[in-house]
Amino acid sequence: MIDFHAHILPEMDDGSSSPEESAAMLTAMAEQGVTSVVATPHFYPDSEDPGAFLTRRAAALKRLRGVWRPGMPRVYLGAEVAFYTGISRSAALPSLCTVGTEMILVEMPFLRWSASVLAELDSLRTERGLLVTVAHIERYADMQPRGIERELADSGVLLQANASYYLSRHTARQALRLYAAGLTPLLGSDAHNMTSRPPTLGDAAALLRERAPRQFVRFTLFSEVLLRQAEPVIG
Ligand SMILES: [Fe+2]
Repeated sequence: MIDFHAHILPEMDDGSSSPEESAAMLTAMAEQGVTSVVATPHFYPDSEDPGAFLTRRAAALKRLRGVWRPGMPRVYLGAEVAFYTGISRSAALPSLCTVGTEMILVEMPFLRWSASVLAELDSLRTERGLLVTVAHIERYADMQPRGIERELADSGVLLQANASYYLSRHTARQALRLYAAGLTPLLGSDAHNMTSRPPTLGDAAALLRERAPRQFVRFTLFSEVLLRQAEPVIG
C-alpha cells in the first residue's frame, strides 16, 4: 500500500519535528501495511524559491536516511505544491514532481475556484504534460459546486483523499460515496507527527476493504503503476 501524502521529512515544514519522530511515523506506517510512502513537504512559492526549497528538502532527506531501517516503507520524494496564479508557466515544475515521475501533488486554494484557476490547473496537464493530483480533495468540497470531484476526474486529474476522510464518522459515508460513484482517490495519510496528526492509513484501508472491496482492488492496482517509473530515494 502506498501513502501518497505525508510530512515525514524532519524539520522541513509543519510535519515531523525530528528524525526520531520521522522514524516513529515510518514504523507506524509499516505496522499498518504501508510499503511505500511519498514524502510531500509543503512548498509555498510565496515564501520560498524552488531552489531553496529543494536544498532544504535534500538536507532533510539526508537526516531521514540516518534513521531509516529495513522494514520501514520505501521513501519516494515529492512535494505538496501550493497552487498560485502562474504555476503552469513555472520552470521549476519538473523538480517539484515526485522524483522519477511527472506526477505533481497540488494543494488548491481554500476558496471557490474560478474558471481561470481551473483552466490553469488544466494547463498543468495539457500544456506541461503533468499527471496532476489534487491533494486532500475532501477539504475543498464545501466551497465548490456539487460534482467537482467527477468534473476533475473526468478531465484527467487524479484525486487524493486523506485517511481522516474515511475515518471520521461525519464524513465516512461521503468518502465511500466517491467509491460508489467510481471515483477512487489515491490514499494519503497526510500525517504530520505522532500526536495530533499521526499515520492512520491502515485503518482507512481496512474500512475500504470492508465497505468498497472491488473499487479498492482497482485503486491499488492503479496506484502501484503510478510509481513504477520512480526510483525510491530510500529503500
Ligand atoms: Fe499535507
